[in-house]
Amino acid sequence: MRKLGLGKKGMEHQIHEEAHQLIETFAHAKGQPFNPSMAIRNAVSNVICAVAFGHRFSIEDKDFLSLMESIEVILGFTTSIPHGFYEILPWLVKHLPGPQKKTFLCLEHVLLFAKKEIDKHKEHQAMHEPQDLIDFYLLQMEKSKRDPNSTYTEDNLSQDIFDLFIAGSDTTASTLQWALLLMVNHPDIQEKVHKELENVLGSSQSFSYQDLKKLPYTNAVIHEIQRLQYVLLYGLPRECVKDANILGFPILKGTAILPDLCSVLLDPKQWETPEELNPNHFLDKDGNFVPREEFLPFGA
Ligand code: HEM
Repeated sequence: MRKLGLGKKGMEHQIHEEAHQLIETFAHAKGQPFNPSMAIRNAVSNVICAVAFGHRFSIEDKDFLSLMESIEVILGFTTSIPHGFYEILPWLVKHLPGPQKKTFLCLEHVLLFAKKEIDKHKEHQAMHEPQDLIDFYLLQMEKSKRDPNSTYTEDNLSQDIFDLFIAGSDTTASTLQWALLLMVNHPDIQEKVHKELENVLGSSQSFSYQDLKKLPYTNAVIHEIQRLQYVLLYGLPRECVKDANILGFPILKGTAILPDLCSVLLDPKQWETPEELNPNHFLDKDGNFVPREEFLPFGA
């Protein structure tokens, strides 16, 4: 991922491309109300496609649309009550009729989609000039083929691609949708963001991640949106690898740890108005951006 330019120019280019398409979709509505959720979801997933497969899809592409549908079904199931039963009694529930049956088919579909892309990459090997995640992974597989302990396998690669879609699409798309809604509901904040963007960037279309440093208010608003509308209540379960002591609490090796992110993100002891969108949470008195240790939407 680092070689692909996470946070550098490479990935930024893909994000620009999708943002551009998204703006076109918004402009096309000519100020009339429309539901942006599909367009946002497609754009976010297309960035993941570009990173993993090296190309984006037309949003009319049938294969792409069926991939999106499968991801939606899987995500819908993982947040449903039947999923809770499945987690407790997987050996039983997998044989019963219910939404898990369709979810398994969708899961196979996403893995097969990834497998087909891997096969295409193998046909047109780009070992000397790896461009995307599959290229880099196949290269690494080749390098470690004599290592009996290597975990670089095609099945693991398909699963990794699956994980990126599941972990990256809904989290990012929901955040962007919340951002739109919060800006609509807070026109005063929206206005200030707009002014700052106009003052700092002018009519330039070619801004970059680095420009965020010159946009303290906008940066504070983005952080505040993620704080207030966090997408995951809890971090992923982890296991303590050695005996530890945190704030006087002994935590033994092997203990399962589930960080309660929401308790920090909405902690009234840390935030002046925890339940309200307040960009000042991330600004000092001179309007400079202040990073906060309590900002944990990406986990602890
Ligand atoms: C606003 C966007 C996102 C938010 C708020 C978010 C949040 C999180 C959180 C809270 C975790 C759990 C971390 C932990 O407890 O250790 C996580 C894990 C993960 N996220 Fe994201 N995420 C976002 C976007 C993405 C994107 C775009 C990708 C990739 C395309 C991604 C891939 C992953 C993966 C692979 C994991 C599991 C990491 C591991 O097992 O160590 N996420 N994310």
